[in-house]
Amino acid sequence: MAYVNNNKLECLLFFLFASSYVLGDTFVCGRKIENMKNNVLVKRKGTIKTIEGEDGDIIDCVDIYQQPAFDHPLLKNHTIQMKPSSISGGVKMNSSQAELIQDWHKNGQCPKGTIPIRREQQDEHPHGRGVKWIPRRTQLNQSINNDNHNEFATVDIEGGTFYGGRAILNVWNPVVYSNGDFSLAQIWVTAGPDKEVNTVEAGWKVDYPDRKTRLFIFWTGDGYKSKGCYNLECPGFVQINHKFALGSPIKPVSRYSAQQFEIGITIYKRKRNWWLHVQDQILGYWPGSIFHYLASTATRIVWGGEVYNTNPNGHHTRTQMGSGHFGNEGYGKASYFRNIEYMDNYSGKFIYVQVRSLHAYATRPFCYNVEVANNTVGGFGTHFYFGGPGYSTLCAV
Ligand SMILES: *[C@@H]1O[C@H](CO)[C@@H](O)[C@H](O)[C@H]1NC(C)=O
Ligand SMILES: *[C@@H]1O[C@H](CO)[C@@H](O)[C@H](O)[C@H]1NC(C)=O
Ligand SMILES: *[C@@H]1O[C@H](CO)[C@@H](O)[C@H](O)[C@H]1NC(C)=O
Ligand SMILES: *[C@@H]1O[C@H](CO)[C@@H](O)[C@H](O)[C@H]1NC(C)=O
Ligand SMILES: *[C@@H]1O[C@H](CO)[C@@H](O)[C@H](O)[C@H]1NC(C)=O
Repeated sequence: MAYVNNNKLECLLFFLFASSYVLGDTFVCGRKIENMKNNVLVKRKGTIKTIEGEDGDIIDCVDIYQQPAFDHPLLKNHTIQMKPSSISGGVKMNSSQAELIQDWHKNGQCPKGTIPIRREQQDEHPHGRGVKWIPRRTQLNQSINNDNHNEFATVDIEGGTFYGGRAILNVWNPVVYSNGDFSLAQIWVTAGPDKEVNTVEAGWKVDYPDRKTRLFIFWTGDGYKSKGCYNLECPGFVQINHKFALGSPIKPVSRYSAQQFEIGITIYKRKRNWWLHVQDQILGYWPGSIFHYLASTATRIVWGGEVYNTNPNGHHTRTQMGSGHFGNEGYGKASYFRNIEYMDNYSGKFIYVQVRSLHAYATRPFCYNVEVANNTVGGFGTHFYFGGPGYSTLCAV
C-alpha cells in the first residue's frame, strides 16, 4: 500500500514539475499508474465475505449465483447444477492426503451458498507470453505453435470416444527459472482440430516469480486463442464447491527420495457438462454449451508435463519439469501419473477403463523425457514417469 501511495505522490510531483515542458514524460508517468491499477487486486462482485490467507492470498466468498460463469453470453439462462446426475468419479485418497490443505482455512470458511474465489492479478497469466498449448503427435520436433516455446513430456490416447479421464499424480515444486516460464503437470481432455481445439484441463502449475505449486484449471474453446482462461478468470467454469479455491497453493509437495504427496484428478461428462473432481471433492463443471467440439465427447486425452521455455540467455531454460529429474529415475525420484483411466460408455453404463496402450511423446527428450512403466508397482495400474532438468550438458540447445 505504502508503495502505491509513494509512487502516486512521486508521480504527482513529477507531473507538477515536469509536465509543463516535457509532455512525453508525463505519458510515461501515466503508464506507470495504469500498470499499478492493473496490479491491484479487485474485489469480486457478489462478495459476501473476504478472507486473507497466511500466504498472502486473498479469498472472496462470492454468492454462487453471481459467480463469473454467469457473465458468459451463453450462460445467461443457465440453471446451475449442484451435482452431477450420477456421481462417478472422484478418487478416495488415503490418510493424510484425503483433504487438500488450503492455508486460508485457518482464517475462516466460506459460508454455504458462496464459492471461494482467489483474487488474481490481471497480469498473472500475461497474454502472448507463457501461453499454454497442447502437444500433438504429428510434430515430433516442435510444438504446434512452431516457435519451440512449449515443451512437453506426455502420454495420450487418441481416436476413441471418451467420456472423461482420470489419474493420480504426485505433486512437486520444480524450479521455474525465468520470467514468462512456467512448469506444470496436468490432464487435457480434448476434441476438435488443432487450430480450434476445445479442451478442459486441470493439474498443478508453478509460475514465475510466484514459484508456488498451485492447483489450476484451464479451458479453451478456440485453440488457445481468445475463448478460455485459467481458473475463474473469465466466464466459463461453474464452481459449486464452497471449500476449495482454484489457484490456491497445494501443500505439502513431494521430496526427492522422501515422502510422495499426490492429488487425484477426475474429469468426466454427465449429460451436457464436464465435471471436475479433485480427490473425492466435486469442484464444479464446464457447461457443454460453451463448446463446439466438447459439446459432444472427447477424442483425445493427454496426461503429462509442460514447460514454457522463454529461452533466457539465448539457450534452453533451466526451468525444471516434474521433480527436475528424468522419468527413467522412477519411483520416489521422478514425477508420475498412476492409475491412468478413461471413461467409456459400455452399453449405456459409464465405467472407467484402465488405459492399456499409451502413446508417449516428448518434444526434447534430452531436456525432459517420459518413461512408460511396464510393471505393476503395488496398485499403480497403468503409470508413467516424466520430467527433467531443462538446460544441462545433455540439453544444450
Ligand atoms: C435467455 O432467455 C431469454 C428469454 O426467454 C431469451 O430471449 C434468450 O435468447 C435466452 N438466452 C440464451 C443465451 O439462451
Ligand atoms: C489406499 O491404500 C490401499 C491399501 O494400501 C490401496 O489398495 C489403495 O489403492 C490406496 N488408494 C489410493 C487412492 O492410493
Ligand atoms: C526431427 O529432428 C531430426 C534430428 O534433428 C531430423 O532428422 C528429423 O528430420 C526431424 N523431423 C521432423 C519431422 O522435422
Ligand atoms: C451410450 O451407449 C448407448 C448404447 O451403447 C447409447 O444408446 C447411448 O446413447 C450412449 N450414451 C451417450 C451419452 O453417448
Ligand atoms: C520395461 O521392460 C524392458 C524389457 O524388459 C526393460 O528394459 C525396461 O527397463 C522396462 N521399463 C520400465 C520402466 O520398467
